[in-house]
Amino acid sequence: MTDSTAVTADPGALAARDKATIVHPHSRIGAPAEPLIVARGRGARIWDVEGRRYLDGTCGLWQCAVGHGRPELAAVAARQMETLEFYSSFGDYSNPQAIALAERLVELAPEGIERVFFTNGGSEGIETAIKLVRFAWAHAGQPERTVILSRTRAYHGVGSASLAATGMPAMKEKMGPLPDGFVHLSEPHAPRTDAGAVDRMVAELEETIERIGAERIAAFVGEPILGVGGMVPPPEGYWPRVQEVLRRHGILLVLDEIVTAFGRTGHWFAAQRYGLEPDAIVTAKGLSSGYVPMGAVLIGRRVLELADGGLFLHGFTYNGHPTCSAVALENLAIIEREGLLERARQIGPRLLERLRPLEQLDHVAEVRGEGLMLGVEVTEAETAAAIAAGCRRDGLIVRAAGVSLVLSPPLVISDAEVDELVERLSANVRACDPEGTLRAAA
Ligand SMILES: Cc1ncc(COP(=O)(O)O)c(C=O)c1O
Repeated sequence: MTDSTAVTADPGALAARDKATIVHPHSRIGAPAEPLIVARGRGARIWDVEGRRYLDGTCGLWQCAVGHGRPELAAVAARQMETLEFYSSFGDYSNPQAIALAERLVELAPEGIERVFFTNGGSEGIETAIKLVRFAWAHAGQPERTVILSRTRAYHGVGSASLAATGMPAMKEKMGPLPDGFVHLSEPHAPRTDAGAVDRMVAELEETIERIGAERIAAFVGEPILGVGGMVPPPEGYWPRVQEVLRRHGILLVLDEIVTAFGRTGHWFAAQRYGLEPDAIVTAKGLSSGYVPMGAVLIGRRVLELADGGLFLHGFTYNGHPTCSAVALENLAIIEREGLLERARQIGPRLLERLRPLEQLDHVAEVRGEGLMLGVEVTEAETAAAIAAGCRRDGLIVRAAGVSLVLSPPLVISDAEVDELVERLSANVRACDPEGTLRAAA
């Protein structure tokens, strides 16, 4: 599993320099972990600086739809940088790449989406969407419509509003005070056998609206499928019912499609999978497959009508970045050219079917998924962490998110690589007892 073409002079020294200088996201300050230093990638594979090869079961942070190391994207970026690397798109400035990307996004999006606001990533997109819906209501003469509904177990990012909308208490510890005006409903998850789950969730939504008053609620923000929360698809029928309640009360629907958009569910947008016509869709990650930082908030007709004529004093320096836009356009072209939506629709269910037998194990609570977003929930977070560590030793990257192991391989993963993923993950899940003790020989 080693590869002689991989870099580096002295991996040990590199690790020491990393630990001495970088504060990594999600790391303990002053107690850095031994880093896995990634040197290169190709398709669904990555190699570390010592030349060890890994199958990328998560594609980093779920961003890499088209696979690693694509020369087409490098060429587009180089060409664009030589022509115009960046210029502002504030106010009356623009560039051809951002215009073309916005047009393409509107073309691909569900009915009702008409315009695009660019960002550099997901959290910025959620911050933007929350400001935009509040701004829209205020501009339309309803400034009291400020409350944002979201759900427990949701992840919406790390800005103040996006963290306030997030439904993971551990992420908010020692980070306060966070802004008011965020109300969390129960997580949209229930056992497959629980026939009454959707009715209960919808009743809770109705009661919450009744309690707060619809006239105070700006929007409902939700991931179509919980991502960081453990790759949790909602019970069938949940989304159309939620949309119907929101519409009846005039509350806007903002979908956080930062993980789900651009093929992961086998559709351009999960909104299309669930038959939704949201008022805004927040995207990032798969938009550029992570080759450059890029996000986009897709804005629906209703929001545009409410905000019509309003001066929206909000924007990031790198909005509509020409190089990032050019890369994103080519990335979308690759997804289309190579039939990656169909690919996700084919291999997702196969992967799910082959992992489902793990549910027979005592320490596996659930195996679930939609398209190429899959989660294996075990009974203890320590067990999930031990399984992820075992997989990594075996050359497979999976991520432990609380009690769940989350999977989202690049959409280009081959059939043979799918087999390898199933075998290595299954072996490591089976090798773990309920207390999370790994097998003796790693
Ligand atoms: C559903 C969801 N929303 C928001 C974010 C935040 O995006 P970013 O990390 O690009 O700020 C993420 C990141 O993983 C996400 O998965």
